[in-house]
Amino acid sequence: MFAIFALFLFSIVFASDKNNVNRTDLKCTGYAIHNVSLSGYYPVFGTDDKRNHLDDRGKELKTLQDYLDGRARYVTVAGNLKSGISYGTNICIEKLNEQFGRQILLQVCNYIIEQKDKLEWISASKLEVTPEQIKAKYEAYYYTEAEVFSGCNLKLIRSDKVTQDLTDQHCQNIIEAESKHSDLIPAKYEGGLKIWECTFDLGQYILEKEIELKDKLVMDLGCGAGVIGLLSLRKNATVHFQDYNAEVLKSVTIPNVVLNFYGTIITTKCEFYAGDWASLATLLDESKKYDYIFTSETIYNPDNHKKLYKIFKRRLKADGVVFVAGKTYYFGVGGGMRQFENLILKDGCFDVKSVWRSQDGD
Ligand SMILES: C[S@@+](CC[C@H](N)C(=O)[O-])C[C@H]1O[C@@H](n2cnc3c(N)ncnc32)[C@H](O)[C@@H]1O
Repeated sequence: MFAIFALFLFSIVFASDKNNVNRTDLKCTGYAIHNVSLSGYYPVFGTDDKRNHLDDRGKELKTLQDYLDGRARYVTVAGNLKSGISYGTNICIEKLNEQFGRQILLQVCNYIIEQKDKLEWISASKLEVTPEQIKAKYEAYYYTEAEVFSGCNLKLIRSDKVTQDLTDQHCQNIIEAESKHSDLIPAKYEGGLKIWECTFDLGQYILEKEIELKDKLVMDLGCGAGVIGLLSLRKNATVHFQDYNAEVLKSVTIPNVVLNFYGTIITTKCEFYAGDWASLATLLDESKKYDYIFTSETIYNPDNHKKLYKIFKRRLKADGVVFVAGKTYYFGVGGGMRQFENLILKDGCFDVKSVWRSQDGD
């Protein structure tokens, strides 16, 4: 199989400098704690909801970028409850100090509950769009209209309104995510309500490189709001939208298509899939393979890397291209571009190319 596999590298570069290893000012003092999981935070884009930025006691969360830019005295981290580390404890990690060539002060201000062992992923399924969904009308306050990419205006459902509605409808996954001030709860809610920043870079790249999408079959894999799929529809592609959460597809992705396109486009040129990537590859029609698979901000969890790769291998046309937009490293979650790239290179099935990168993480 031959295909160009394109990578986007974005955000802070975690360059390890071997000269730093012996610097005494980077050493840690205090007592050692072993086998602890700590998670950092990443700024949430697309929401001004202050609750997303507060810790368990209502104190503002501080990101690594805040610290590096001098806006914070420490980086907020969440610790696992089993570790017994109390709220407010200062943490020092020599490896982290060495990577940045300076002391990085971390402070435990939130708790996470270890869930890895008991994750139950929802199986993939196809969602049929109902006539009511196609005919739906949305009040002006419920969406925004903006030039999302140069020369490309889109109407987009407001994530804060949907979050509120889903909370009112007692959608447990969203309530849980909200109560934990969390963007993601693995296998429950995977962050699709918000628009993540690499989407903007990927869309701009598609436009600038004038990637020909007319009459192509495109997958917006892990679509969330579906911005890349919407752009592809504008370029006359047929688009399959996929998100883990059916709630996201029903309350954001499908409405976004309805807001921007006529009903016939939805019925003839769109399909929607919910559920886990592991079972998606086998659910999709074997005879249909994709010209392009676009996937933005989906490589944060290393446990999902093989699932994603399986979809690429089974569902991409022989001359197809996958575009992966993601960050070099997802601090606190563990995934990242290099790790994912290594997995693909190891298998030797795809050509891998890095086509665009930025060091601007804001
Ligand atoms: C961080 S969001 C990114 C959304 C969107 N691509 C963007 O850039 O704004 C991650 C996306 O991957 C999907 N996702 C994550 N893990 C998944 C899994 N195991 N199976 C299926 N979809 C998954 C989520 O539903 C969500 O759409």
